[in-house]
Amino acid sequence: MAVTVRAVTPAVGAEISGADLRGLSDSDFAAIERAWTNHSMILLRGQKLSDDDLLAFSRRFGALDPPPNQERGRISPPGYPDIYVVSNVLDGKGDPIGALGAGEAVWHTDMSYLDTPPDASMLYSLEIPPSGGNTWFCGMQAACDALPADLLAKIKGRRIKHDGTYNSGGYLRKGVTPTDDPMAAPGAWHPAILRHPANGRATLYLGRRRNSYIEGYSRVESDALLEALWAHATQPRFVYEHVWKLGDLVMWDNRSTMHRRDPFDGEARRIMHRTQIKGSHKPVAFAA
Ligand code: SIN
Repeated sequence: MAVTVRAVTPAVGAEISGADLRGLSDSDFAAIERAWTNHSMILLRGQKLSDDDLLAFSRRFGALDPPPNQERGRISPPGYPDIYVVSNVLDGKGDPIGALGAGEAVWHTDMSYLDTPPDASMLYSLEIPPSGGNTWFCGMQAACDALPADLLAKIKGRRIKHDGTYNSGGYLRKGVTPTDDPMAAPGAWHPAILRHPANGRATLYLGRRRNSYIEGYSRVESDALLEALWAHATQPRFVYEHVWKLGDLVMWDNRSTMHRRDPFDGEARRIMHRTQIKGSHKPVAFAA
């Protein structure tokens, strides 16, 4: 049976049906890859993946990146260093088995504090709470296309500093010195508007709000401009809310989306396994 692709919003996301990720033909894989390039985020429900299956599917997109350094470092299931666990569950010693706890994870794109951030990330649901913990995606190409002219003029040709101090849960990354000064913070500079290497579209690349800074402005001017850009980009018309079911696999393009997660009841259990596809290109400015 051939796979089918249905957009879930005009701005971001497509649901793919008719695919078992454990045994994809090359033509079905090509259709999935095309949907990911065109829609920036894809959803496949009802999967039954072991960690080896998740790794095998992930590697079809390219080499994997190691997990990000989170509040307790890099937490992986034993024997699977390329898998990153997102979970609030505690082990027998009372230590979290994963990162991000049960709180909100604010809007961000993954690891943009690196010079070459990962192209993509995948999240596979193993245990989900009865409610909460929904993950939201924002289409940054649609947001870029709809940028008001005054905002566009103010960021055209400029770069943004992306922070590596705090993760999206607000936790300090292990071994990093706390700071609220974007210039002192570890991180990377990237063009405010990127050219997507696969589809050629312009994409607004904001990364994460905390410790962000736009070059060429005072801190006050940069903060005001960032507030306006974030308010524009996160409007409901650019956003998809994903309500998880067991066996969902979601994959997003880190160059053309941001994501955030709702908090959930800390007494409930949520376990997700995540992989990341290594960056194929340094972010390049959209020159038009
Ligand atoms: C993440 O930011 O990668 C975690 C998203 C989630 O837990 O839904």
